[in-house]
Order: sequence, then C-alpha cells, then structure tokens
Amino acid sequence: MNINAPRGTQDILPGTSEKWQYVEGQLADLCRRYNYKEIRTPIFEHTELFQRGVGDSTDIVQKEMYTFEDRGERSITLRPEGTASVVRSYVQNKVYGLPNQPTKYFYMGPMFRYERPQQGRQRQFVQFGIEALGSDDPAIDAEVLALALNSYQELGLTSLKLVLNSLGDLESREAHREALVKHFGPHREELCADCQVRLDQNPLRVLDCKKDRDHPAMSTAPSILEYLNEYSENYFREVKKYLDEMGIAYEVDPNLVRGLDYYNHTAFEIMSEAEGFGAITTLSGGGRYTGLVQEVGGPETSGIGFAMSIERLLMALEAEGIELPIDEGLDTYMVALGEDAEKAAVRLTYELRKAGIQVDKDYLGKKMKAQFKAADRLHAKFVLVLGDQELENNVINVKTMDTGEQKEVSLDEIVDYMKKQLIGVE
Ligand code: HAM
Repeated sequence: MNINAPRGTQDILPGTSEKWQYVEGQLADLCRRYNYKEIRTPIFEHTELFQRGVGDSTDIVQKEMYTFEDRGERSITLRPEGTASVVRSYVQNKVYGLPNQPTKYFYMGPMFRYERPQQGRQRQFVQFGIEALGSDDPAIDAEVLALALNSYQELGLTSLKLVLNSLGDLESREAHREALVKHFGPHREELCADCQVRLDQNPLRVLDCKKDRDHPAMSTAPSILEYLNEYSENYFREVKKYLDEMGIAYEVDPNLVRGLDYYNHTAFEIMSEAEGFGAITTLSGGGRYTGLVQEVGGPETSGIGFAMSIERLLMALEAEGIELPIDEGLDTYMVALGEDAEKAAVRLTYELRKAGIQVDKDYLGKKMKAQFKAADRLHAKFVLVLGDQELENNVINVKTMDTGEQKEVSLDEIVDYMKKQLIGVE
C-alpha cells in the first residue's frame, strides 16, 4: 500500500529547497534593514483565538480551519494565518509595555487552510509576514507597503501591481455597511447562499464574492471611499502621500476588501501581472487592524502588517523567468583507493570539514573511475586523490576540475592549502 502526502501539501526536495533557503535568507535580510525582528509562535493555538481574531464570519473560520480536540479535550486549531498569533503573543508577553515602540516583527512558517487545492493554493503553505504594532502613523503603513513591494523587487520581479484601498474606521464602515444592506437588500434572493448570510453578518464581504461577481448590483454597489469620515479620509491621503514621496506606484481599488475581518483603514494586495502566472494573481495581502489587540485582551493598540506565501513568490519568479543565484556545486570530492588510503581519507575529510570546507566522498565502494564520475555529477570544484602510493609519500593529488590542472600537496599542508583555495585564508 502506498502512502502519499495529503492533498494540498508538498515535499520540498533538494534542487528546490535551495531556492527556499535563498529567498528566506533574502527576506530576513530585508527585514533586518527595515528593523523588523523575528518572532516564532506555536503552529497550533486555541481555536477561540482565530474565531475571535480572524472573525467568525470569514471563510477561514467557517470552512477552512484544521480544528481538532486534543487529548485534554481542548479545541485546538492549526494556525491558518500569523497575525492572530502574533497579537496573542504581544498581549500575553505584555510587549506593549516595553520601551522601543512600535513593535516590529516578522515571521516565516507553515500555515494551514482546508481549501480546494490548485496552483498557488495549498492546504499547507509557508507564509512570510510582518506586523508593526503600536503606531497610528500613516508613515508606518507606507513602510509596510514598501517592505512588501521590496521583498519582490529585490528578487528581481518587475510585473507587479500594488492595489490599495481604505476600509475607513468603525464609523465610516458602519455608514458603508448600512448603504450596502440597502443596496443589496432588494437583490437578496438573487445572491448566493453565502452572500445572503454575509449580508446579515458582514455585507462588505459580498463585494468579494466569486460566485456573484457578475451580478449587475455589484458594479453599482456603494464604494467605501464615499463613506469615509474626515479622519479616515485624511489617514488615507497621508498614506498615499508617503507612497508618492517614495515613488511607489499604486492603484486605488474601492472594491478591494480582504478576506479577514480585522481590517480598517489601509488594505492592500500585491498582484503579479506576469504572463502565465496562473489564475490566482494575488501574491500577498495585508492591512491595518485596530480591534484585534483588544479582542485578545490587550489595551487599545493598532497594528498593520501583511503576509505572502513563499509558494506564490516562487511561482512568480518562475513566471518571470528569474534564475536565483544558487550554487548547487560541491567544493571538494575525496577520491580514495586502497585500504589504508580509505582510512586516511575518512580522517582527512573530517579534518577538512572541521576547517570549514565542503567535502564529500564515496560510500559505495566505487572504483577510481566511477568516483571521478560521481565528482563530475556533483560538479565538484576540486578532486583530492589519495592512493596507497600517495599515502606512502605523505602527499595528496589535487585536481582543479575546470582547468584539469593537477598538483601534489603535502598531507601536512592540505587543509591550509584547500582553505586558501576555497575560502581565501590560510
Ligand atoms: P491572507 O490574504 O489570508 O492574509 O493571506 C496572505 C497571503 O498568504 C496570500 O496573499 C497568499 O500569498 C498566501 N496564501 C493564503 N492562502 C494560501 C493558500 N491556501 N496557499 C498558498 N498561499 C496562500 C493573511 O493571512 C493576513 N494574516 C495578512 C496580514 C498580516 N494582515 C495583516 N497582517
């Protein structure tokens, strides 16, 4: 009986895992420059956190969570996103009381959603995200947007579109909500079953419905931008001003509503415009949230953040034909022939590795020629050849693979010699 990985999950094998390591390293470095520090939270949390944090009326909570009862009969959920956990940790550890506010975090790790798998949509995926908590300055919204965009640009992507909206504050959203109910009310029966519920629970989400997208009432729906009060309008204007200041292009889309309940003011998504990217064009999304910290028991504090999946980032790199600078070669391959030479080769391999040099050797009892072939296949830069004869003379043969040049080096000096060749130090 074959057992395969569950649907919507994937194995990341060597050849691909190097790409993951590379982009993860680049993203961590970008965060260092923007001064966002890494936070690692548990992969599972109490279910209630997401019900309250992400919102009961969202698709995530209603249909997509991996929820189970643990042996202590507690309801546990594999995290579907990172923001709720970060906020929970911020409150639990009373981070809001520390000096050096705002608090700026980044995270990277697996998230779980029971969705219908397709290209770019998985049941386990890895999110990279950031959260900045404790500042209401529109400049930090612009900072988050800039970091989000930079994370793609730094890797060489160019076919990007930043789509921006303001969902306003509570007062503005209430006014808009009323207008939406009034607008869609007469069409209630024509809308899908989900939208009929949304109309009561969270009418804004009707605008995001895939099924009712072409309903005539959609194109005439009242725009949130017409319902922004003065504070919200000013806030949005300031965010745009800072983006203009940085020379960051964006498109305002009043129909951009996000799939999570906690947003207000700034909401945004970054889309790929690359040909062949696939049906799902959203690379990442985020926005400002105000009630979330209070919802999990903290003081009134607002935050802003965004998240992307590494899977979609890699898809975009592929669609734009960007090769990452990944060295898949091997520095040194040790070829040994003869019983004593083999013993010495094991010791020397160990010494070289301790000295910081990447080395591999044969473990299949291959003949000399086959060992050379293996070195070739692994794209070794140097091959060290040790036979019983060399051992007797206390030397080893160093072959530089791209020039074919060979050199005999004393066994006493080989570690330093290789360090000089590969690391540039003695
Ligand atoms: P989200 O829009 O639900 O927002 O997800 C953000 C990103 O995660 C998406 O744009 C996409 O790149 C990726 N993603 C989501 N679901 C999947 C999936 N099933 N397969 C592959 N990738 C996926 C959030 O999660 C918010 N926590 C973002 C945020 C942070 N807002 C404020 N701070």
